[in-house]
Amino acid sequence: MRRFWIDTDTASDDAVAILMALRTSDVHVEGISVAAGNVPVEMGARNARYTVEVCGKETPVYVGADKPLLREPHFAYFFHGPDGMGGTNPLEPKRPVQEKHAVPAFIEAVRKYPGEITLVTLGPLTNMALAFAQAPDIAKKIKMCYVMGGAANTLGNITPSAEFNIWFDPDAARMFFHSGIPFMMVGWEHCRGKANFDEAEIQSILDMQTTYAKFSIDINATAIAINRDMYSEPGLSLPDPVTMAIALDPSIVTRSGKYYVDVETNSELTRGATIVDELGVTQKMANAEVCWSIDIARWKEALYKTIR
Ligand code: RIB
Ligand code: CA
Repeated sequence: MRRFWIDTDTASDDAVAILMALRTSDVHVEGISVAAGNVPVEMGARNARYTVEVCGKETPVYVGADKPLLREPHFAYFFHGPDGMGGTNPLEPKRPVQEKHAVPAFIEAVRKYPGEITLVTLGPLTNMALAFAQAPDIAKKIKMCYVMGGAANTLGNITPSAEFNIWFDPDAARMFFHSGIPFMMVGWEHCRGKANFDEAEIQSILDMQTTYAKFSIDINATAIAINRDMYSEPGLSLPDPVTMAIALDPSIVTRSGKYYVDVETNSELTRGATIVDELGVTQKMANAEVCWSIDIARWKEALYKTIR
């Protein structure tokens, strides 16, 4: 049995990634911690609980940080819909959120299972930065972490130089990147191009005619429309599910390397940029494994097998 912990700002692509983990038989999700990001933290926690119940599970969901460490929150309703779930208006879940705050809950889980927990972060890293500040010992007690975040020396999606999760709370991201936690950075670039689902692939998912396939497409309706009308990249890009697919099967990564990576926190123009020292010119110790390429067919099959 593999133990996972998911930290998320649950909106439409997060929900698909959570579903992938919950529907993987040898994975036990110890907990889901929610932070503000795509949507306010309470909405994210509602969406996470709803997703857990769609999967017929009772995984505990914990509410965490309601804003970045130092910045003002900027929610992404434009991309995920007014409810974060493509305007599908999810019903209020039956199970409440946990009383305990996400940060102590996460710290307790890592200390209960030292060396066993795979952490998958799907949103801003505020909860994680708070946890490492309160309990520096846990960074080395995490088996491995897969971060959906950043853009490895390539263009961003929320600004020309930064990816949303890192941009939303760059200070937390910088703390995380220097915490000593073993992690792989999976940038948003890995959900683009051929890794995106075109109209025919979206239809083939709907043709599966399962609850999970319909759920995965319906909640991403706004994202599909924005990709088509605003980003001129028609189809469905799923950055969180790409990262979850890698966490579930790291062999999906075809090229990666260990480098010194730092996060811009001073400049407004390049706030949240993830700078990868590919040539080693800083002569600083590598602190991250960076994903450079994935097996796209295997990424898509990893999703399909959890929704068909
Ligand atoms: O930039 C993509 C990331 O930002 C994804 O995690 C998406 O859910 C949003 O949080
Ligand atoms: Ca997310």
